[in-house]
Amino acid sequence: MNDLKKLLPMLGHTRGKRSAVTCSLKCDNACSKAVCNTSANNYFRDIASTEFSRRSALGIGLAGALSAAVLVQGNGQGQNSQGNNGVGHSGKGGKFGFTPIAPVDASVDSFNVPAGFDWSPIIRWGDPIFNEAPDFDFANQNAAAQAGQFGYNNDYLEILRQPNGKKGLLVCNHEYVNPQIMFPAAPASAAEEAERRNIFRNAVGMTVVELERKKKGQPWSYVRGGGLNRRVTMDTEFELTGPLAGSDFVKTAADPTGTKVFGTLGNCSGGTTPWGTILSGEENFNGFFRTNGTSVEDRRYGLGNAATGMGWELEDPRFDARGEDYRNEPNRFGYIVEIDPEDPNSTPKKHTSLGRFKHEGANVIVADNGKVVAYSGDDERFDYLYKFVSKNKYKKNNRAHNMTLLNEGDLYVAQFAGNSAVEIDGSGTVPADGKFDGSGQWLPLVLNGKSVIAGMSVQEVLVYTRLAADKAGATKMDRCEDVQPNLQTGKVYVACTNNTKRGLPGQAAADEANPRTENRDGHVVEITERRGDSTATTFNWSLLLLCGDPAKNTQTYFSGFPADKVSPISCPDNLAFDTQGNLWISTDGAPSVIGYNDGLFKVGLEGRNRGNVQQFASMPRDAETCGPLIHDDESMAFVAVQHPGEDGSYGAHSSFFPDYVAQGSTPAPGKVRAPRPSVVQIFQAN
Ligand code: FEO
Ligand code: CA
Ligand code: CA
Repeated sequence: MNDLKKLLPMLGHTRGKRSAVTCSLKCDNACSKAVCNTSANNYFRDIASTEFSRRSALGIGLAGALSAAVLVQGNGQGQNSQGNNGVGHSGKGGKFGFTPIAPVDASVDSFNVPAGFDWSPIIRWGDPIFNEAPDFDFANQNAAAQAGQFGYNNDYLEILRQPNGKKGLLVCNHEYVNPQIMFPAAPASAAEEAERRNIFRNAVGMTVVELERKKKGQPWSYVRGGGLNRRVTMDTEFELTGPLAGSDFVKTAADPTGTKVFGTLGNCSGGTTPWGTILSGEENFNGFFRTNGTSVEDRRYGLGNAATGMGWELEDPRFDARGEDYRNEPNRFGYIVEIDPEDPNSTPKKHTSLGRFKHEGANVIVADNGKVVAYSGDDERFDYLYKFVSKNKYKKNNRAHNMTLLNEGDLYVAQFAGNSAVEIDGSGTVPADGKFDGSGQWLPLVLNGKSVIAGMSVQEVLVYTRLAADKAGATKMDRCEDVQPNLQTGKVYVACTNNTKRGLPGQAAADEANPRTENRDGHVVEITERRGDSTATTFNWSLLLLCGDPAKNTQTYFSGFPADKVSPISCPDNLAFDTQGNLWISTDGAPSVIGYNDGLFKVGLEGRNRGNVQQFASMPRDAETCGPLIHDDESMAFVAVQHPGEDGSYGAHSSFFPDYVAQGSTPAPGKVRAPRPSVVQIFQAN
């Protein structure tokens, strides 16, 4: 760990969107390795195209909005991530107008917002959340201090508000760490190196922290010592739920019951349930484990027998899964986890019913029949899009019951068909019918508690979900990141961030749902469930965007909106909605594709504004935009700024976000001259 080259074996050898640092630390160099999905299943099945039903598209709206309204209000805990209790147009959101900012060159280290807006960090890596936790001391870090401080590389973000707007509860994931910029110098001894590994285990996971302010619309401050404050680290106990709980697939020497797991890994995006809990996706968990790496299952999940980049197996045997004792430890990660942020003593859950894969996150909507539906993407090139439908129904004002809804249900995987399939040549040329569109099916993997996959039990389907989906014939996608239903319309939006291997020799060719060969810029899919029923097993779909910089790429598509009038956008990642039904997209990877820093963008979905992309914020150098959260009723937006200055090194930082101070000057007390991942609030300037 004290050798940058050892830490970053791919330095100088990456392609496509990511910096070498991100590739090594975040994704275990997934792009440099063989594609995990070598299944021979069709990437695009021939399904009779079905005429798009305008009636079904419209019919979903009211029911979806009403369901959500009842649900979120029913929990009595403030507002959901759409900031509107799901009630539809508030009227106030219209004030949230802005003039789009210009894209910022990737060499520039600044955080930019539109004229008339200002920004400030709410909480930074290392800020103490407990009274007894020490103030952040960049030069003297230790694991005990980190366990009481805000973690590193914040990703999914939620701020639950009390109705009077004066109190809030911030919940955030911490996906991974950047060792090469977290300290002033390389470790001087093996003992120091080992302590750093302890720090890292306390810097990942999640944070819950109370917020306060004098009135709505004003910037928040976090409450040190707040009664609900909590850190989730690798020492936090989780309970497994669903068919895999107690099964032989998840038993280890330390947990012969197969029911309790310590820690959560690779927590990327997430979702907020209508009952006020937070979901978090365990994404790139594979890079933390050393396995024999020889089984079909290991290879399908990217597990290998090389020493891991983090080296946790050196002192914790459960990260070394080569022997019998901890052979199953990797089977205990790769799930959607659920945490109740209002009970700091609660045991968070890992829901095996939603399957095991590299979950980006999960987002829930309540169907008209009361069942809850969770959408989730597997963020790996050529992997799949999933949907879970609960067995039991949502009950108003019964939070304890609702917190069991993800324990049991049906699991499906998506299969897309295009209606212009013969025209798709990988160029991104719009088909003659004017749209990339078609129909699709949700193929069952588990139905009514039984496996639908020949030769696989329910437990096998849920622990090796990728293999089950291969057998079902799912469509290979260009890396599904956030998958989010619009609570106002029920339509589902899928951010496919990119896939530079699409269409290369030996790989799946372009199809109408993934229509560009070597797709560097990514795209966004819009799914309309049949009859407006979120539990339906068939759907229609169309592409909302083929991303890119229209000035440099003629293969972009903005649903017909003039390409010369949009902000350039690349690598869509996380999604959010405002109260007016606009989609907001945050990006991850634009610098190495279009040469601009990543940002936050608003996209119109309806009428003449459909496809209009407007940039609202630009991130610091080397940073990814995460979180996004739009409280347009207060003219506020929030982002989690992840890995600022990631391409810098010990003492040679490429970013000084968020506490920018003049070069050569002395930072103010409590400020350090190093980048700190932070949650940022953007608000109207006085
Ligand atoms: Fe952690 Fe798929 O991004
Ligand atoms: Ca078409
Ligand atoms: Ca992401």
